Amino acid sequence: MKTAIIYASSHGTTEKVAKQIQLGLGGESTRLIDLKATKTVDLSLFDTLIIGGSIHAGQMQGRVKSFCKKNMADLLKKRVGLFMVGMNESQFENEFNNAFPELLRKHAFTSKCVGGEFLFEKMNFFERLIVKKVSGTSQNVSKIDDSKIAELIYEIKKE
Ligand SMILES: Cc1cc2nc3c(=O)[nH]c(=O)nc-3n(C[C@H](O)[C@H](O)[C@H](O)COP(=O)(O)O)c2cc1C
Repeated sequence: MKTAIIYASSHGTTEKVAKQIQLGLGGESTRLIDLKATKTVDLSLFDTLIIGGSIHAGQMQGRVKSFCKKNMADLLKKRVGLFMVGMNESQFENEFNNAFPELLRKHAFTSKCVGGEFLFEKMNFFERLIVKKVSGTSQNVSKIDDSKIAELIYEIKKE
């Protein structure tokens, strides 16, 4: 079974999560595909596709959204798992529904919101201001939900 984890990451947290999933799956047969660096993906090489991105100002990266839109017909023929990285837990359901098309959400065999991080050294001036205002802190915060990642890995391996 060949698996690809296809992701976009603005400050590195989604990439960290993608690597954690890859490690959990045993590494070797799992490819990491960063949508920032890869324009087209040959989906025919994979049976299972795990797609993820992070939320900024309520929105997932456009790269992830357009990847899903563009490849919808092929994605619906594969095993697809979805994950979302974000910090605003009360909004996870809305953000997730807005991030991935309904058809794909219904088709996915697993969907997880895995928390996230605030990494101030990676933010620009405006991002720092916004996050400080919204979260009330200017210290790095990590709320990566390892149990959700473990569930995701378990479900990918299960079928
Ligand atoms: C400027 C900014 C805006 C953000 N807005 C949201 C948001 O609307 N909802 C949310 O759940 N998380 C939000 N976050 C949290 C990010 O999703 C979190 O930092 C995540 O770990 C980023 O992952 P990445 O480094 O892979 O892009 C925001 C973070 C920043 C820096």
